[in-house]
Amino acid sequence: MIVCSCNRISDRDIDACAPTSKNVAAAFRTLGCAPKCGRCACTISELLKQAQARDCDNCIPGRCECAEQDAQDAA
Ligand code: FES
Repeated sequence: MIVCSCNRISDRDIDACAPTSKNVAAAFRTLGCAPKCGRCACTISELLKQAQARDCDNCIPGRCECAEQDAQDAA
């Protein structure tokens, strides 16, 4: 599925760059492009969080964002 129509970035592209991209700006840099209209920023941010939470194997409570998000989701 295309998540950024300006740059033709797919959800698979975001999954692939998630391990090395902490945020939307880093994802754009990793993919060799730049935001244009910005409509995709929230979607890309959410996809990055989901991919990083799914792939995280270094969860340390209090030090890992995905562990904190899991705790918030459980509350
Ligand atoms: S949809 Fe991504 S910058 Fe426009």
